[in-house]
Amino acid sequence: MHFGPEVLGAALEGAGAGAVEEFTGSWDDLPADTHLGTGTPYRFRRYGLFRIRPGRLERLPHTAFFQDKSVNKVHGGVPRLFAPLSASVAGGEVLRTVVHTLRRHLPGPRAGMDTCGVHQIRVTATTRTEGHPAPEGVHQDGHCYVAQVLIRREGVSGAESALYDLRSRPVHRAVLTTPLETIVLDDRRLLHGVSPVRPAPGASCGVRDMLLVDFFPGGGDDARGEGDVALPVEGDVASPG
Ligand SMILES: [Fe+2]
Repeated sequence: MHFGPEVLGAALEGAGAGAVEEFTGSWDDLPADTHLGTGTPYRFRRYGLFRIRPGRLERLPHTAFFQDKSVNKVHGGVPRLFAPLSASVAGGEVLRTVVHTLRRHLPGPRAGMDTCGVHQIRVTATTRTEGHPAPEGVHQDGHCYVAQVLIRREGVSGAESALYDLRSRPVHRAVLTTPLETIVLDDRRLLHGVSPVRPAPGASCGVRDMLLVDFFPGGGDDARGEGDVALPVEGDVASPG
């Protein structure tokens, strides 16, 4: 499912422009991803884990992010400890609103989807170093649903998002260009990948900021959230409105 910026934009109207600006500005304070293993860092990130409660998010203890080797050939099997989200991002109205809105737009039943991982990621590119949003190539993340929200794209060419069925046949391609434009996918039924980030013609560097939210059951005691009903399963992808 691919939707334009109006969905999250409308949901965030109540939060106020200042709060949204502070939220998106927090991508300027992401430490380098030390697990990349490259001389020049091109990816910067923070991570947090939450139980999704009706009307709120309950922050869970900070832990390493782990993906199985079967889904991540580059970093799978290795716990990766990323810097935690700042207190203002983790406890703010913007993240709470975004997570609950994304959860209402999952492309399938959302009952039981009571836990989420939140990733703030910046990928940069210069004329000498391109950025790889997904160095593992076309992949699954190992969750149930994954939301990919564009926060900022400046001076960038490339970074085309692509979705594939489980037999690696392409089903959707899109370049996210407008802040808050979003792709939400069923990670159990689709593969995804992103092409490298390169500076746009004439630019010396490019910046692409993304918010990724992984949804999965955490085995909590509140697996069914407020107002939950099993939504009809929509098509995997739809053009942005
Ligand atoms: Fe991924």
